[in-house]
Amino acid sequence: MYCVFLSIKARMVSPAIALAFLPLLLTLIIRYRFFFVLFYRAVLVRIWNDCATGLTREERAYQYVLTNATPGDPESILETFDIWCSKVEFISNIGPKKGKILDRLLMEQRPLTVLELGSHCGYSTVRIARALPLGARLYSVEMDQRNAAISEKITRLAGFDDDTVELIVNPSDEVIPRLRSDYGLERLDFVFMDHWKKCYLPDLQLLEGSGLLGKGSMIVADNVLFPGAPKFLRYLRKSGLYEWKVHRATVEYSKGIRDGMAELVYQGIK
Ligand SMILES: C[S@@+](CC[C@H](N)C(=O)[O-])C[C@H]1O[C@@H](n2cnc3c(N)ncnc32)[C@H](O)[C@@H]1O
Repeated sequence: MYCVFLSIKARMVSPAIALAFLPLLLTLIIRYRFFFVLFYRAVLVRIWNDCATGLTREERAYQYVLTNATPGDPESILETFDIWCSKVEFISNIGPKKGKILDRLLMEQRPLTVLELGSHCGYSTVRIARALPLGARLYSVEMDQRNAAISEKITRLAGFDDDTVELIVNPSDEVIPRLRSDYGLERLDFVFMDHWKKCYLPDLQLLEGSGLLGKGSMIVADNVLFPGAPKFLRYLRKSGLYEWKVHRATVEYSKGIRDGMAELVYQGIK
């Protein structure tokens, strides 16, 4: 009898509680609308599309690029990716705005040996490869086999062969210590970090320990403000090994979420 009473009472109270919380919920949605939109686009739409197509979102993007971009034309491949990612489905490519900062740094630096951590679908790989001087080589690391397969196809579609872009399918913490022995590298002129943010600091320290960074080597790290890499930034403040700054920007394919890309120049061991 008591249980029945409680259940009737609970049913009467629930709508009242829901109504009381409605203004709070609406305020949260309005205040954090960018995050809701991102969550909706990046998670809910993705799950729905994965089930409906039987493909990953990276494979869907690849199919779109393959059908609509001009083979052998890196610009066309990047533009086609940008259309898909801004209009259809979010993919965490560096995107056109932060991409332009990366382009400029590469043009200024003219690096001969480049390491990319986190190739994903190959968007930034193509972006880097097209900015390299003649004879330069990019080593692009991707640990996810399905993403790596797409990156390889996109890179070749853009017209870059194995001599310009070498894709390494393994986790970065296994690859970095073997860059000297397995790939014959002696120095890295430029490193682009865009893999999981928790790997930024341990991988930077692995690079320092590898002896591959020389005075003037540049490291560019994306998303240091969103989702953010606080330990990495704290280390930069303390270490004294780098001259560094953060280029302010917004998250790829979004207008409102603030982000930043860190530019580090290694000063050598003091
Ligand atoms: C944000 S996406 C990279 C986007 C890409 N740089 C671009 O702008 O086109 C991150 C990628 O890093 C890969 N990744 C994450 N942690 C990694 C690690 N420790 N080693 C290698 N790849 C990693 C993920 O599998 C994912 O494909």
